[in-house]
Amino acid sequence: MTPAVSAARSGALGGERLIPLNDEAATSKLGAAVAAELVHGDVVALFGDLGAGKTTFARGVLRALGHGGVVPSPTFTLVQHYEMPGISVAHFDLYRLGDVGELHELGLDDARHDGTVLIEWPEIAAHALPSDRLEVHLEDAGGGRIARLAAFGSWAGRLARLVA
Ligand SMILES: Nc1ncnc2c1ncn2[C@@H]1O[C@H](COP(=O)(O)OP(=O)(O)OP(=O)(O)O)[C@@H](O)[C@H]1O
Ligand SMILES: [Mg+2]
Repeated sequence: MTPAVSAARSGALGGERLIPLNDEAATSKLGAAVAAELVHGDVVALFGDLGAGKTTFARGVLRALGHGGVVPSPTFTLVQHYEMPGISVAHFDLYRLGDVGELHELGLDDARHDGTVLIEWPEIAAHALPSDRLEVHLEDAGGGRIARLAAFGSWAGRLARLVA
């Protein structure tokens, strides 16, 4: 889903940035830059094909927020929860979600109340995405990746000042 399409679906596009990511470390670093802007209730939607770097980005976010342990891909568990001092993060991967009706049981709404949410394969639950969100679209570019960040709602100002 392009930002323009998702903007038409819910919320107004509040700016975009293109950021080249030459290697895995750059993807993690971008995650850390986004982590610096995260506040309670935020949703970051991670778009991209299989192997695009979505989990790598999530690891960068979690490490920057102080999580020192492993960050497994939530492909099979569908969600992993992390508690750090002052912030909790729920990391979803909806690729294997059987039925969008399971989303409520998975606790997407609760997770937003409890802290912040990172979602891989968010297009599977496009209707459940809040109008206030940051979209990160990861695409292949040569041997590396390019990230297109699209801000909606309160992310407009935050994306503009993101140090990345
Ligand atoms: N900027 C980059 N340049 C090159 N390789 C990268 C970059 N970012 C991540 N990778 C590599 O891409 C591979 C896949 O990464 P990752 O598991 O994060 O993808 P994913 O989008 O979560 O995949 P999936 O859809 O299966 O969950 C890893 O080997 C990772 O090191
Ligand atoms: Mg992944």
